[in-house]
Amino acid sequence: KSVDLHPTEPWMVASLYNGSVCVWNHETQTLVKTFEVCDLPVRVAKFVARKHWVIAGADDMQIRVFNYNTLERAHMFEAHSDYIRCIAVHPTQPYILTSSDDMLIKLWDWDRKWVCGQVFEGHTHYVMQIVINPKDNNQFASASLDRTIKVWQLGSSSPNFTLEGHEKGVNCIDYYSGGDKPYLISGADDRLVKIWDYQNKTCVQTLEGHTQNVSCVSFHPELPIILTGSEDGTVRVWHSSTYRLENTLNYGMERVWCVCGQRGANSVALGYDEGSIIIKLGREEPAMSMDSNGKIMWAKHSEVQQANLKAMGEAEIQDGERLSLAVKDMGSCEIYPQTIQHNPNGRFVVVCGDGEYIIYTAMALRNKSFGSAQEFVWGHDSSEYATRESTSMVKIFKNFKENKYFKPDFGAEGIHGGFLLGVRSVSGLAFYDWENTELVRRIEIQPKHVFWSESGELVCIATEESFFVLRYLAEKVATAQETKEGVTEDGIEDAFEVLGEIQEVVKTGLWVGDCFIYTSSVNRLNYYVGGEIVTVAHLDRTMYLLGYIPKDDRLYLGDKELNIVTYSLLVSVLEYQTAVMRRDFGMADRVLPTIPKEMRTRVAHFLEKQGFMQQALAVSTDSEHRFELALQLGELKIAYQLAVEAESEQKWKQLAELATTKCQFVLAQECLHHAQDYGGLLLLATASGNTTMVGKLAEGAERDGKTNVAFLTYFLQGKLDKCLELLIKTNRLPEAAFLARTYLPSHVSRVVNLWKESLGKVNQKAADALANPTDYSNLFPGLQEAFLAEEYLKETHVRLRPAAEYPLITVSRYTHILGTLIW
Ligand SMILES: *[C@@H]1O[C@H](CO)[C@@H](O)[C@H](O)[C@H]1NC(C)=O
Ligand SMILES: *[C@@H]1O[C@H](CO)[C@@H](O)[C@H](O)[C@H]1NC(C)=O
Ligand SMILES: *[C@@H]1O[C@H](CO)[C@@H](O)[C@H](O)[C@H]1NC(C)=O
Ligand SMILES: *[C@@H]1O[C@H](CO)[C@@H](O)[C@H](O)[C@H]1NC(C)=O
Ligand SMILES: *[C@@H]1O[C@H](CO)[C@@H](O)[C@H](O)[C@H]1NC(C)=O
Ligand SMILES: *[C@@H]1O[C@H](CO)[C@@H](O)[C@H](O)[C@H]1NC(C)=O
Repeated sequence: KSVDLHPTEPWMVASLYNGSVCVWNHETQTLVKTFEVCDLPVRVAKFVARKHWVIAGADDMQIRVFNYNTLERAHMFEAHSDYIRCIAVHPTQPYILTSSDDMLIKLWDWDRKWVCGQVFEGHTHYVMQIVINPKDNNQFASASLDRTIKVWQLGSSSPNFTLEGHEKGVNCIDYYSGGDKPYLISGADDRLVKIWDYQNKTCVQTLEGHTQNVSCVSFHPELPIILTGSEDGTVRVWHSSTYRLENTLNYGMERVWCVCGQRGANSVALGYDEGSIIIKLGREEPAMSMDSNGKIMWAKHSEVQQANLKAMGEAEIQDGERLSLAVKDMGSCEIYPQTIQHNPNGRFVVVCGDGEYIIYTAMALRNKSFGSAQEFVWGHDSSEYATRESTSMVKIFKNFKENKYFKPDFGAEGIHGGFLLGVRSVSGLAFYDWENTELVRRIEIQPKHVFWSESGELVCIATEESFFVLRYLAEKVATAQETKEGVTEDGIEDAFEVLGEIQEVVKTGLWVGDCFIYTSSVNRLNYYVGGEIVTVAHLDRTMYLLGYIPKDDRLYLGDKELNIVTYSLLVSVLEYQTAVMRRDFGMADRVLPTIPKEMRTRVAHFLEKQGFMQQALAVSTDSEHRFELALQLGELKIAYQLAVEAESEQKWKQLAELATTKCQFVLAQECLHHAQDYGGLLLLATASGNTTMVGKLAEGAERDGKTNVAFLTYFLQGKLDKCLELLIKTNRLPEAAFLARTYLPSHVSRVVNLWKESLGKVNQKAADALANPTDYSNLFPGLQEAFLAEEYLKETHVRLRPAAEYPLITVSRYTHILGTLIW
């Protein structure tokens, strides 16, 4: 039955026929509070934000006041002797006005315990709606089924005057809140909407179109529109000055009961039989534009204002914070601006809206030219522009004079400015030459935006799903135009080369050199260069790019509340990246010194991704990054230096690997030592047959507690006593005993005694069961021979034999000696 919007919270209150009042959060689309008012229809519920109240009026004739924070009922009283139709909350005084089927309007003062302050008598039928005049809070108007509208003064119980003209009951009424016109609007069961001048008391306009009783009317508090709702199920949108029907909304939700717009927001709440809807009106994007010197022009409703970044002074600027700018009024615009756009040199601005455009001088806002157009785009050259008059006709102007007009083959659903003139149609996007309107190339794509780089070499075509970056090949186009080769009905085949597609939705964008800077649908501020995406910032709300000022190293963005924020983005970095993309390393080297040290690594990562590793290594200042690059490039010296500085085992390991693959074994060895990688050292030492190394390794490994490696190394060298001592030292006594039994039988007795002693501490029985070979030689057959063999091998054969000696050794000796070893 009714909807109302909260002035600050994202809430809508809806009162329902079934007796409930619901508060919805329209941002999250969740029900936040419910009040079960009564069993009868609740025809009206209103917020009183300053008291945290919802006030509801129901068919039980009661007014109920709820605190929406505590959900408690703060007050309840019988207000009328029949159904309550409407409540109007006074904007400043502690008053509400109520109207009823009892034909009365009553004023209630909540500061005086809800006393009825006044009764307004005069209507002869139900009083359907009351509305307080926003320009004079002491005046209000009422609509009644007695077919009249009455205007009242607080303090006077009889009406000031009556407006008659509707032929059936009047259901709804609203005041126009703009300063220029003393207007009221009304809607009635005669299916008509009437606009009244309440000063000379005449009907100035009648809006026809609804096919059923008109149930609600509203002058939007800010936008130049009128909204009307009817039992025919439609909401109609009319222009508030021309009264042209702009749109008819039909959501198929049966009868419309109320519309509620809001100051400072473009959402409008609609209440229907079958539910409530919030719609957003107008463009989200603000009408705002900046020239290359930092002069920003925007439209606040019809007023044009200007702010100059240069006038900001030396104040500290923080990324993402709102700039406080001095704003200058430039005057008001004859049309309601939907877009404002500077031309390339910034001398002119075009304002578009209501199917018209006006070109002004940017300095003084003096009109230079105007006309009617659905769309307007500036050309590449500051003296050129194009307009689209209909879905079939495009006009090109030069120096403010019409130069050409043409009808594109597949029609013109939209136009795009820039280096070439883009015309969008069902068959895709067609690019035309500004001069001769010849087709350059047709591309099968449905773009939302087309952004040309300043040089005209690169273009970004953004669609609903992604964006493409293309290179424009001007030379190939010139050749084809001359020779007529490679020209089809879709234009010059080789005109463009696709450089990449990125799965992101571009909202606004601009080029700086070869870098495409954009805001995305997920509120990122990014730029694209050479296939890479660099994120400049994550934005907390939707922002629109205004421009880039190289001198400030800053990007400027605006939001729909006309706030300006900025983010730093170094021009030197962009220039450097542009130079790299153009393979102009001379230029890149000249720019490099201007890039601050802390940005060098970022640039180096970019170089690396573009495949310029050597350059990346030279530019990077991050030792991790440099080490990785040095490894990839096989730059052992640099990598070595970095490993020394970093003292990281991981780096030494990586470098050892590289040194090995490069056959730099001495270096590999050093690295493995630094990395304490004894396994690696063992492999290297054995594989290269380096005796000195094996020797050093054994000692080092033992010292560092790498006993596995130490054991193996001693073993390899035939240093069996060392092996044995190592096992004893590490308390591996059973292993020591068996090693002795196998290789050093002369030690077996000593070791077994040690073992028995140690085992005895935990299990004497087990210790006693160990037989010492010297005492039980009968249990150890061949022990005596083993002693002899040990002596013999020690004296004659076992010694270390480096690989270098291999050629000198005969096969028989070799197999004899090393039969049991793992060589
Ligand atoms: C009234 O309708 C609403 C929406 O369908 C529902 O959430 C609510 O519970 C109903 N209230 C009563 C009292 O039936
Ligand atoms: C309405 O009536 C009051 C009191 O009679 C008077 O002072 C006021 O000027 C009138 N206003 C209009 C708009 O007629
Ligand atoms: C629409 O208007 C007619 C004529 O005034 C009235 O009889 C009818 O009840 C109205 N419809 C509704 C649903 O109020
Ligand atoms: C009343 O004022 C309106 C302008 O608001 C004007 O168009 C209209 O002609 C005037 N009517 C009379 C009768 O003066
Ligand atoms: C242009 O300026 C002239 C003179 O200032 C003014 O008369 C005219 O109404 C303006 N036209 C438009 C469309 O702005
Ligand atoms: C063997 O290793 C030592 C150091 O452990 C080293 O000085 C020597 O150069 C190496 N010999 C060969 C032939 O690589």
